[in-house]
Amino acid sequence: MDSRRTFLKSLSGAAVGAAALAGWPAWAQATEQSGSIDLPGEDRMIVRSLRFLDLETPVEYFDSWLTPVSHFFVRNHMHEPVELNAGDWRLTVGGEVDKTWTFSLPELAKLPVHSVVNTLECAGNGRGLYRPQVPGIQWQKGAVSTARFSGPRLADILQRAGVKSSGKHVMFRGLDEVPGKVPPFIRSIPIEKALDSDTLIATHMNGAPLTKHHGFPARALVPGWIGAASCKWLAEIKILESEFVGNFMSPGYRFPNQVVKPGDSVKPEDTHVVTGLNVKSVISGPLDGSSLKSGKVTVQGTAWAGEADIVKVEISIDGGSTWNPATLGHERSRYAWRLCTFSWNAKRGDYLIQSRATDSRGRVQPMEAAWNPSGYLYNAVDQVTIHVA
Ligand code: MTE
Repeated sequence: MDSRRTFLKSLSGAAVGAAALAGWPAWAQATEQSGSIDLPGEDRMIVRSLRFLDLETPVEYFDSWLTPVSHFFVRNHMHEPVELNAGDWRLTVGGEVDKTWTFSLPELAKLPVHSVVNTLECAGNGRGLYRPQVPGIQWQKGAVSTARFSGPRLADILQRAGVKSSGKHVMFRGLDEVPGKVPPFIRSIPIEKALDSDTLIATHMNGAPLTKHHGFPARALVPGWIGAASCKWLAEIKILESEFVGNFMSPGYRFPNQVVKPGDSVKPEDTHVVTGLNVKSVISGPLDGSSLKSGKVTVQGTAWAGEADIVKVEISIDGGSTWNPATLGHERSRYAWRLCTFSWNAKRGDYLIQSRATDSRGRVQPMEAAWNPSGYLYNAVDQVTIHVA
């Protein structure tokens, strides 16, 4: 990754000819043509893929409750739309409805605006930590970030079209550029979650219009659920009688019904669609492998639990023999992570520091995550080792 990043940085400020950009993703070519390169990997974001842009947030950025948009992880299954003109953009609502409805951006903006602070986590976050390894993007700890999303409620949009009693699932289609034989990114959520007053068609993130990487001009925001539920560059909403059938519902984004022996395969009929997030915490400082001076050391971290609330985070500085309560940050919102801290007077030595979260449903972060063939929902107790000199 590093050499790739260095290579990209070396492009900064340099005039890159069109020939040099042939074969680059469309967004890279477009930004170069506009005179400024929107460098992936800038600001220390970790580039996990360039073919389709995948950027991981370094854990040291988990020190603010709201993640600045420039530090918010990016997960794309395919190319971002090449051209998206806000004036031409339309959102259609059809399927099991009384009347097919089409919204322009100004029409969408006339609906009441609702805001939700949501911790968005990719189902594959932590995949790179599973052993044995599983194929896919090898995310470590940073395919997760938190922002205030704003826009009309999906329920208000559906109400305009009038959902028939036969409408049980809501399908989202994005405007991704689908390369070759890759199936398009289409998924659905059950009508109950779609009608939840916190499920949005978000047009803004942290008070500003969505950026292209995060789904401009509008995306679904399905709070507390895996990031894949929140379709970006939304163009179509379709009400269905049953769950959408397609690659990103099956075999994609499914979890085994039973505990799986690491390395074993699982039959599709023994799996279910992944929806809500797990209980999880991550240590954001001190960084793994760092050396510190003796004296007061503060462990910082963050914890989240999807649709449930974090009730406690415990920190161990002795490799799990004893656990101490961390202080939870005062900033909170139903689907958002809680920052946390724990300080102690560190003497010289080597330390294994661990963090363990518990949520309002009684779920406790396990010592080992439940291995599964797709590497989803990793949530083992987090740990770093430090040296105090
Ligand atoms: N929507 C579309 N249209 N295409 C995608 O590839 N990726 C999904 C989701 N919505 C995706 C999408 C996945 S897997 C995740 S984790 C989130 O977007 C990531 O959102 P972000 O890039 O804004 O962080």
